[in-house]
Parts: sequence; structure tokens; C-alpha cells
Amino acid sequence: MYKPIEIADGIYSVGCRDWDIRDFHGYSTDEGTSYNAFLVLGEKNILIDTVKEKFSDELLSNISRIIDPKEIDMVISNHTEMDHSGAIPKVMHNIGRDKPLYCSKMGAKNLNRHFHLDFNFQIVGSGDELKIGNRTFSFLETRMLHWPDSMFTYLVDDAILFSSDAFGQHYAGDKFFDDQIGDEIIPHARKYYANILLHFSPRVQALLKDVAKLNLKINMICPDHGIIWRDNPAKIINAYDRWSRQEPANKVVVIFDSMWESTTKMARSITSGIESEDVNVRLMNTRKWHRSDIMTEIIDAGAIAVGSPTLNNSIFPVIADVMTYIKGLRPQNKIAAAFGSYGWSGEAVKILNKEFSEMKLNIIDDGVRVQYVPDASDLDRCFGLGVKIAKTLKKTLSCKKK
Ligand code: FEO
Repeated sequence: MYKPIEIADGIYSVGCRDWDIRDFHGYSTDEGTSYNAFLVLGEKNILIDTVKEKFSDELLSNISRIIDPKEIDMVISNHTEMDHSGAIPKVMHNIGRDKPLYCSKMGAKNLNRHFHLDFNFQIVGSGDELKIGNRTFSFLETRMLHWPDSMFTYLVDDAILFSSDAFGQHYAGDKFFDDQIGDEIIPHARKYYANILLHFSPRVQALLKDVAKLNLKINMICPDHGIIWRDNPAKIINAYDRWSRQEPANKVVVIFDSMWESTTKMARSITSGIESEDVNVRLMNTRKWHRSDIMTEIIDAGAIAVGSPTLNNSIFPVIADVMTYIKGLRPQNKIAAAFGSYGWSGEAVKILNKEFSEMKLNIIDDGVRVQYVPDASDLDRCFGLGVKIAKTLKKTLSCKKK
């Protein structure tokens, strides 16, 4: 519990921090997260979003430091996912189930499918406005950013955007605003984008264009996770523009796993080959790096090289995990190459190439396979693959500049 913070005149941040969470549905949250909820006081008192179910009492307790929760007149639900809607049943039970619950059409459908309760849904869509006293709320549906029900709520008078998951970060700390934490928050925001939103990058580009057309003044962005952008909201908007373009940088991520260190040796030689061409490289052993950290490095890489031994005629289980994850997030505009050691059948490289092909990555080589343990000439071939990846990437980048 923390003292609710007044973020603007009569507007409070009343959510909860989840200091302990380390695995957020498969995403490593090394610094926990927060579930932000906002209380807007006025002629009517409005709660925007809630928190995870297990923090329901804490949310109500935070609210009660400002007003009696029964004095809440309506709730706006920007997004159905349980980290923001889990407390809705308890909140509605406390404030009165018949009070209006504003959400998108898909929000009503999805809240029904989650809670199987009768709420007084008030459906809103893009462009709809809710005028209450001297406050006007405007709604913008952001379908598939990142759920079908997602929407933004914009408080016109204060120029505050309540952006749901967008522009958020999994961060639970003692800082609440961008000006308090500075650029330390950017890696958290970048990891969040890479692991939650990368898949939807074309929609992010379209949304940013739509918002630009609306010419909205934005004084503050209040996401449902992490810090509030009040000093420089443009900074995170510009970062989203950059990340969603998926423009390749002069960087290769080499991802591998190994049974008896043969694929490790191959990965290290490939890495040396890449470095010999003055291209930046990250070597990431899947036993040491969490899939979500690997994904965060991939976001701006111009190329990936993936190495797996062959096990039971297939790729290694941990590599299969990471590849499934990467594939689902749909990174684009990348060169790809595979490598790996094998004993007798050696299917791993072929399987990886098939995965790359389905991901629409640019496969620049058939890949390097080595039986059992690489000798000096095998490692030379790996070094050569690294050089080839780096040279192809440099050529691609120089063509893009022209
Ligand atoms: Fe933070 Fe999509 O929930």
C-alpha cells in the first residue's frame, strides 16, 4: 500500500505495486510490476481501470484514503486482461453493481466471458465523449493493441491520456514519474514493447498516425503499468514510433544451446566472424538468458543466428521454446542463419531454416552443420558464416541509407 498520489487536480493514482512478481505469463519481470488505476474526482467520481484480483482490497483501501469507495459513480475499463480487470467484481460489489461500467463493445463481451456477472455496461467507441460537469472523457478504441477490447480514455480538459497497456513498463519501484527516474526507465519500456507489442507493430504505426491526425494535446500519459509520463510524453511516443518501424541496426544476436559444448564452440566462432567485420553482436545462451531478454535484444537487431544441436531428430527443447516465442512476436526485416552440431541424423539446422522461412526472415545461407565435435576447419566455416552475416547486414544497411 502507498499513499495515493495526486497526479493532477482531483486525479489520483490509486493502483498497487506487485513487488514480488518475477514471471508475468512467461515474461521475466526482474523489478516486479505495478497495476495502475486512476480515480478522477468531480461532479461524478470515476475509477479508470482496476488491479489484479489479489490486490482488490489494497485498491479499495487506497481509494478509501481519498473517498469512500461507495462514492464512486462509475468505472471505465480500458482493457479486460485480468491484471487490470481482476478487481472489477469486488469494486462493483462495493460501489454498487448497478453503477455504469464503461468499456468498448468487445470489452463488455470479454468482461462477461471472464466474470459471468451482470454489469451495467455502457458501450463506448472511438470518438464517443462522456461529459460530466467540467470534465470531458473521450474514447479511442485500440483494437488488438493488444487485445480486441483495448481502448484509450482521454481526459480532454487536462490533456491526460489513460493508455492502458500502451507506453507501460513492468517496473515496481519508488519512482512514479518519468522526471523522477529519467532514462533508466527506457530499457523497461523497450522490453515491454518487445515482448507485448512487437507483434502488433503495423497497428502501432497506424495508431500513431491516427493520433497525430487528431492533433491531441498530451500533457501526461498514464499507462496501466509503471511510471507516468508527465515531463516528456513525446519521448515514449517517439520511442514507439522507432520500435514499431523495426528498422534494422548494425547488430546481430547469436542465440544458441548446446549438449556437449560443440554448438557453443560454433556460436563463439560465428560471433568472432561477426566482430571481425565491426558489427555489434550479442551472444546469448538460452540456458543463461530468459526468452524475454533475448526478445528485447532482437527488437533492433539486423540479423539473428540460431544454433541448436539435434536431439531426437529435432531441435533442442529450450531452443524450441525460444523460437516459438520469437516467432509469435513476429520480428521483421532481419537476416537469419542457422547452425548446430549433431550425432547421426542432424535435422536441427533444416528445422530452424523452416522456422525462419515461416517467419519471413531473409535466410542468407543453408547453415553450418558439424558432426559431433568441430575441428579447426569446421570452426573456420563458422567464422566464415559470421563474416557472411555481418557483410550482408552491412550491405543491407547501406542500401537502406541510399
Ligand atoms: Fe497489462 Fe494486457 O494487460
